[in-house]
Amino acid sequence: MRTEELFDLAPVVPVVVLDDADAAVPLARALVEGGLPAIEVTLRTPAALSAIERIAAEVPDAVVGAGTVVRPEDAARAAEAGARFLVSPGCTDRLREAMAATGLAFLPGVSTASEAMALLEHGVTAMKFFPAESAGGPAYLKSLGGPLPQVRFCPTGGISADNASRYLALPNVGCVGGSWITPKDAVRGGDWDRIRELAAKAAALRP
Ligand code: 3PG
Repeated sequence: MRTEELFDLAPVVPVVVLDDADAAVPLARALVEGGLPAIEVTLRTPAALSAIERIAAEVPDAVVGAGTVVRPEDAARAAEAGARFLVSPGCTDRLREAMAATGLAFLPGVSTASEAMALLEHGVTAMKFFPAESAGGPAYLKSLGGPLPQVRFCPTGGISADNASRYLALPNVGCVGGSWITPKDAVRGGDWDRIRELAAKAAALRP
């Protein structure tokens, strides 16, 4: 999958923190049923790689990816577990090379024009904009679109049902990411109906 194809799957990529790999499959099913097939499982918990493995094996309609890829070795590990895309909060040369070496779609994180330009020099045109709200929000992203119209972003960080549309209205935004679709209490309590409803609302953000 090319990174641009990730943008077309849905307007929102849920960012998931999973403490229990047993929750991965029912959670992924609820998200897919709600209309959000691309799911970013963050590598912040010991359960993450096993969660990715299970979703890849048992939820064929999901496109599972790994988020919080911060060490170069995380990229290959996530790919081995079955991740189909990789997302990082920032980027270094070594991390970019490791992510590119997997052959997977990847969204390296940036928050400045210089960081975006450094990636452009390597042919990378799809990036995560992080932390979106604190780094300047939709106005900042709109300004980056002037000199750098060839870059498409997935803003993430502080995005919610209330402000997502302001990002999605920008021509340089491919999709947005966020954790608001999978609140901790709903994941821990197995409230898949609530997550399905939140996913359906998020999926409807782009007509
Ligand atoms: C992250 O990687 O933590 C994402 O940016 C999620 O941010 P959010 O919890 O503010 O949606």
